This record gives sequence, C-alpha cells and structure tokens, in this order.
Amino acid sequence: MVDPSQIAAMIVEPIAGEGGYIVPPETFMQGLYEICRKQGILLIFDEIQTGFGRTGKMFAYEHLKYRPDIMTCAKGIANGLPLSAIIARRDLMEQWPAGAHGGTFGGNPLACAAAKKVIEILQGGSLDNANKMGSYLFAKLNALKSRYKSIGDVRGIGLMLGVEFIDGEGNANGNLVYAILDYCIGHGLILLPCGLHKHVIRFICATTVTKQEIDDGLAILEAALQTAGA
Ligand SMILES: Cc1ncc(COP(=O)(O)O)c(C=O)c1O
Repeated sequence: MVDPSQIAAMIVEPIAGEGGYIVPPETFMQGLYEICRKQGILLIFDEIQTGFGRTGKMFAYEHLKYRPDIMTCAKGIANGLPLSAIIARRDLMEQWPAGAHGGTFGGNPLACAAAKKVIEILQGGSLDNANKMGSYLFAKLNALKSRYKSIGDVRGIGLMLGVEFIDGEGNANGNLVYAILDYCIGHGLILLPCGLHKHVIRFICATTVTKQEIDDGLAILEAALQTAGA
C-alpha cells in the first residue's frame, strides 16, 4: 500500500470549462505531462465537462498524444441521471482496499443503465454527429464573428464551443453577454455564460443535435445580437 502523504498529483481540465472554453496550446499540455513524468507526479484530467463525447471524441485527452494517470467523469455520462466515475490506471485502482470506495449513490443501477445506453448511443453514431455538427456550428459562429465586432473569439473543439464578447477597447464584455442571454431565454434558447468575467457564451448542444436545431438556435442568437446592439 502506497503512503498517500507521499503522492503528488496535478489536476487540470484538458479544456478550461468554467474558465472560458479555452483550449490550451498543445505545447502547454505536453509541458505539464513532461513535468509530471519527470517529477513522479500523477497527472489527473478533470473530464467532467470535456468527457463523454463533448469534444467529438469520447474524452478530450484523445486529442493529445498521451493519457492522464487518472480521469474524473460526470455530467453527460448518464445523460442527466446522477452518476460520476473515476477512471485510472489499474495499478492505482488496485490501491483501494476492498469496500473503501463507496458512497450513498455509488453504483446506482438506474444511473448505470442510463450510462450504458449513453455509451451505446455515442458509439453508434452520436460521436460522429458531434464532430460533424461541431464543425458546422463552428463555421456558423465564425461567420457571425465576421459580421459582429463585439465577437472577439470563437473557440473550442467538437461540440464544446465558446464565443467571447468584447467591448470597443477589446476588454471582456460580460454585460453584453447577459443582455444576449436574457433575450435568448425569452425566445426559447437556453445558453450559459463562462469565463472569468462571464464574457463567453458556451454552446453545449446535445451530441444528437440536428442541423435544423442549430439553425433555429442561431436565428434566435442573431436576433439577440441585433437587439443587444452587438
Ligand atoms: C470541469 C468540472 N469539474 C467538476 C465539476 C463539479 O462536478 P460535480 O458536481 O460532479 O462534483 C464541474 C461542474 O459541475 C465541472 O465543470
């Protein structure tokens, strides 16, 4: 049994979620990985927001050239039913004494059945759809960027896309985001902000989303941009 006080770990989101849908440069992630390997530090990826098909792959680490030692998963894993998971190297998982990893909701059969179905649906075409629809939405959002000067950046991977809003000086414009979100929710489109100044709108469509649904959503978004004077 390893002494837990002797274990060092670094935990990081492979793409910053609440932080503003920021995709780190590959060299940054590679650097982290190399530091961890050299120093004997466990690398943990928090894939709670990036996992389960969100980026067009099952997990965001698959866009990189290496694996983390440990991953955390939740959210899309059971399509809304309460479930989370830790996935790790076998030699690490074997450190748990029998029965040590328990909890009131652990192994909930209904949530596990939902997760099994989610995996089937993702592998049965929904991951491909996330890639296709992600590229479609990314192109459409970039087209909006070319028409609205308050859009500073469009970024993300797959169906994890964010649009950053700025003011005339190029600073974060959270007030504009709130005006846009207000209009959208009143017209049937729920969007969430993220970023340090809540100046980024994130698009986290279902991986089963259709082109028509994206077009309908974008029409509401564009009306909101016009109404808010973006
Ligand atoms: C990246 C990330 N990690 C962790 C959490 C928290 O997850 P949980 O509510 O399952 O503890 C969230 C949001 O809820 C998240 O976005």
